[in-house]
Amino acid sequence: MSYNDRFIRACRGEQVDRLPVWYMRQAGRYDPDYRKIKENYSLLDICRQPELAAEVTLMPIKKLGVDAAILYSDIMNPVASIGIDFDIVANVGPVIDNPIRSAADVAKLKPIDVEGDLSHVLETIRILDRELDVPLITFAGAPFTIASYLIEGRPSKSYIRTKSLMYSDPAVWFQLMDKLGDMVIAYLRAHIAAGGKAFQLFDSWVGALAPHDFKKFVLPTIERIFSELSDLPQPKIYFPGVASGELLPTLTNLKADVIGLDWRVPIAEGRRRLGGSFAVQGNLDPYVLTAPMDVIKEHAKAIIDEGIKEPGYIFNLGHGLFPEASLEKLRELTEFVHEYSAGALQA
Ligand code: CP3
Repeated sequence: MSYNDRFIRACRGEQVDRLPVWYMRQAGRYDPDYRKIKENYSLLDICRQPELAAEVTLMPIKKLGVDAAILYSDIMNPVASIGIDFDIVANVGPVIDNPIRSAADVAKLKPIDVEGDLSHVLETIRILDRELDVPLITFAGAPFTIASYLIEGRPSKSYIRTKSLMYSDPAVWFQLMDKLGDMVIAYLRAHIAAGGKAFQLFDSWVGALAPHDFKKFVLPTIERIFSELSDLPQPKIYFPGVASGELLPTLTNLKADVIGLDWRVPIAEGRRRLGGSFAVQGNLDPYVLTAPMDVIKEHAKAIIDEGIKEPGYIFNLGHGLFPEASLEKLRELTEFVHEYSAGALQA
């Protein structure tokens, strides 16, 4: 089978014959075969076994017909290499026994050693590079989102300790952002060297910040990450996560190719706020997938009609898939986006 490069072309704002589709968290618990694997292996067990991690990455490609693969991993994996012990607890998320709370905690963080500590991740990418006929997206968590887990010690709704450190001790906060920025840069560069064809920086929770605080405390590190990686020709995606609509106008100078939108901002409005220089990706509310198929298609159609008005659009959800999603509906949605957009793009 020939290589499907629609996703890469759309990232670059080039013409496509039909829209590329992939879903954040497309490998996951909505799939009974994935749940079966999870009976015997934890998420971290799977990540440490490249053959198995590659197999899980491939599952949604075969079942859903999506146009890109996303590496099966977690945003927390690289922090093991900078000296943080964590676990991913079922139905909770990342948990850290000794959270980062002080200048001394930040000072102790080591530089990342990707080849030494994370060779299993690189091996998974190499296997996938041989097996895939669609592009492989690799990813990292962005510094604010990673910091929120490191500082809170577990998932949080308020980010109270994270914000407290940021506002009370900016010097320590910026040291932490610098160290996590260095970690992300080295990690993503190694992914691309191993065969990744694009990457996404997940800043899932940064929408918790007011735009002026985002600009002051977070954006400089995000800009540095994309600038330092700008020699790489592979497409680069920034996903500022949920409720990030007000942050979009601050992103205009980012050396990224694509910005991921959540469902609260219509595609045309997102493009307007971004100033027109990016491709955009999104943004179906994942919970629309609980509706009957005709309602799902109606919502998808409205998004596609806006998306295809300009080149540089990738169909996705506004956030990750959830365990109750239906594999059959996702398969049907993917087919619908392909067919409907093929017709609309020719019209
Ligand atoms: O998208 C994919 O298919 C690739 C796999 C992937 C995982 N995590 C595997 C995973 C990706 C891209 C991530 C990124 C990730 N991890 C993010 C950013 C994306 C987002 O959703 O905003 C975040 C915030 C995390 C941290 C994290 N890991 C959380 C909040 C949870 C959920 C806890 C739960 O049980 O609901 C995890 C666990 C996790 N990572 C799961 C998966 C498939 C679910 C649990 C499991 O299957 O073991």
